[in-house]
Amino acid sequence: DADVFTFDPGFTSTASCESTITFIDGDKGELWYRGYPIDQLAAKSNHLETSYLLLYGELPNAEQMADFDKRVTHHTMVHEQMHNFFRGFRRDAHPMATMVGVVGAMSAFYHDSTDVNDPWQREVASIRLIAKLPTIAAMAYKYSLGQPFVYPKNDLDYASNFLRMCFAVPCEDYVVSPILAKAMDRIMMLHADHEQNASTSTVRLAGSSGANPFACIAAGIACLWGPAHGGANQAALEMLREIGTVDRIPEFIAKAKDKNDPFKLMGFGHRVYKNFDPRAKVMKESADEVLDLLGIHDNETLKVAKELERIALEDEYFIEKKLYPNVDFYSGIILEAMGFPTSMFTPIFAISRTVGWVAQWKEMLADPQSKIGRPRQLYVGAERRSYVPLSNR
Ligand code: SDX
Repeated sequence: DADVFTFDPGFTSTASCESTITFIDGDKGELWYRGYPIDQLAAKSNHLETSYLLLYGELPNAEQMADFDKRVTHHTMVHEQMHNFFRGFRRDAHPMATMVGVVGAMSAFYHDSTDVNDPWQREVASIRLIAKLPTIAAMAYKYSLGQPFVYPKNDLDYASNFLRMCFAVPCEDYVVSPILAKAMDRIMMLHADHEQNASTSTVRLAGSSGANPFACIAAGIACLWGPAHGGANQAALEMLREIGTVDRIPEFIAKAKDKNDPFKLMGFGHRVYKNFDPRAKVMKESADEVLDLLGIHDNETLKVAKELERIALEDEYFIEKKLYPNVDFYSGIILEAMGFPTSMFTPIFAISRTVGWVAQWKEMLADPQSKIGRPRQLYVGAERRSYVPLSNR
């Protein structure tokens, strides 16, 4: 019966697909990519190897890894004509705004990888997206600064290449710090996939109509931008800066608990985790490590973050609602220490999540059970009525 269905606002209890990619146990605070716990991958793997795992289901052997690396590297440049496209944006545009436009426009440049029914084209599109997202995000950043674009340098690893494209200038030598590259790589890996979150569901929904992969990933980027989702990493750091000193924390905790105040602790709470987000744990350790290695001691923002976490986790409101720091709580502190402005935080999330979006999109297309996504609604509008001509209204 087409008119029998369940009502589930926000899809809190609806599984929209079967998936073999990522597993989350929200009560235990566990996250696995293809069966491998995230803390093991964070300690032993790297973003590109993890990308291979997410895409193809198994860790690569040496030959497979070298081949994958080569394929991604081969596609890091963007079509030269796309430079003009960037120049059409205002310099003060948010880089996420530029990215939504530029990634969507990739389908206007790469016609040979838009046929979703052709497995070879799907594969090329996937690699292009993973390879070009760092280049596009770095170009958006450089454009906002009024600096020349920096071309990718293909003997560098994925994270180092991105850092160089953001921070190198033609008039000076630039050597990528291995400490920063490692930290960036870990951030990318921790964000790589997270089952059916809002942006991934958006990518799947867009893809379910047969839309081309570039359009689907642009839709994912648009969804990620919101402050309740990926935009929270920017919002969290701005909140920590606004709090400023530990003595002001109770004031903000009180605001977060106030039902009549829309303020929420950014970087706190999660739809699925009712325990520590395992990524936040790694990120917290990483923040300590990176700041230490960079010789940044007594970082006030990190101090505020840790104290805020401590106070919140002892507060009845947060205990009762099982609200813990999520992936976005500590990442901004690391990115800020690297020299990124807050506006680049969500673009970095988008770069990292691209492989997850692509893996989920491919899985959906290969799934014989998948069909166009089409939720129903409970209609609560007017009863049937007759049209009244304008002269009688
Ligand atoms: C990401 O889904 C994913 O997997 C996402 C993600 C990924 O990798 O893809 O993990 C990435 O998006 C992380 C989340 C980033 N967002 C934030 O940090 C923004 C702040 N957090 C929230 O707005 C909220 O916790 C959500 C959006 C993350 C989760 O929303 P839910 O599941 O709809 O839960 P809810 O808003 O209904 O909250 C339940 C209760 C509410 O109180 P009651 O109405 O029951 O009284 O908890 C309260 C909320 O008001 N609450 C908070 C809070 N988060 C929830 N109160 C204060 N501060 C908060 N941060």
